[in-house]
Amino acid sequence: MGYKAKFRVWRGEGGDGKLEDFTVEVNEGEVVLDVIHRLQATQAPDLAVRWNCKAGKCGSCSMEINGKPRLGCMTRMSTFEESDTITVTPMRTFPVIKDLVCDVSFNYQKAREIPSFTPPSDVRPGEYRMQQIDVERSQEFRKCIECFMCNNVCHVIRDHEENKTNFAGPRFLMRIAELDMHPYDVADRKDAAQEEHGLGYCNITKCCTEVCPEHIKITDNALIPMKERVVDRKYDPLVWLGNKIFRR
Ligand code: SF4
Ligand code: F3S
Ligand code: FES
Repeated sequence: MGYKAKFRVWRGEGGDGKLEDFTVEVNEGEVVLDVIHRLQATQAPDLAVRWNCKAGKCGSCSMEINGKPRLGCMTRMSTFEESDTITVTPMRTFPVIKDLVCDVSFNYQKAREIPSFTPPSDVRPGEYRMQQIDVERSQEFRKCIECFMCNNVCHVIRDHEENKTNFAGPRFLMRIAELDMHPYDVADRKDAAQEEHGLGYCNITKCCTEVCPEHIKITDNALIPMKERVVDRKYDPLVWLGNKIFRR
């Protein structure tokens, strides 16, 4: 059965805006994005929202629903009480372009800063041979849909704009871990993870893992193992001795 829901939606451009109240029809089986689309169709034709697949796979419709990062297309209206007021705002960590759409180019910049897959120079494409067991651990990270909700929720940049230059965010620290676990990647990623991409800023709050719509265990399976690899390097007696000898 349909009912009328109370929605409070962020409207505005750039840094200026305010929450606007709407009462809007909801039908059985709908998700928050359906209701946003009905708002566009009936009451707010200029309401900006980014979306694409409506199937939880493109990562475009990230927003904050009642203060929590969620995919609009995967958040069922049936998870709320009919009497609830549902507040929908753009992701807070990135600059707002208009209404629910923010500028996520921070993430593309960080992606570019990570050196790509680097195979050994004597192995040509087509000659890579790997067993499933070799890629078992890092395969989980390939489920990422780049919704950037993990980067949005991480307090290191959510509350500290000044850290953005030095911190790649969980999504891209996970990418470094993925490449470091790849049997054919020969790039040295450990020092860079710590010194250039800000792995040390992560204090394992696990908020990133909590919001991941693909249920990737970002902290336990990527960030903590990467921290351990960095520490192993630092405290490995052979590496320590090598540093002593060659840095003199
Ligand atoms: Fe989104 Fe999860 Fe990928 Fe982060 S790791 S961008 S939360 S899918
Ligand atoms: Fe941030 Fe995730 Fe670490 S939320 S602090 S990157 S565990
Ligand atoms: Fe593609 Fe929501 S519209 S994930």
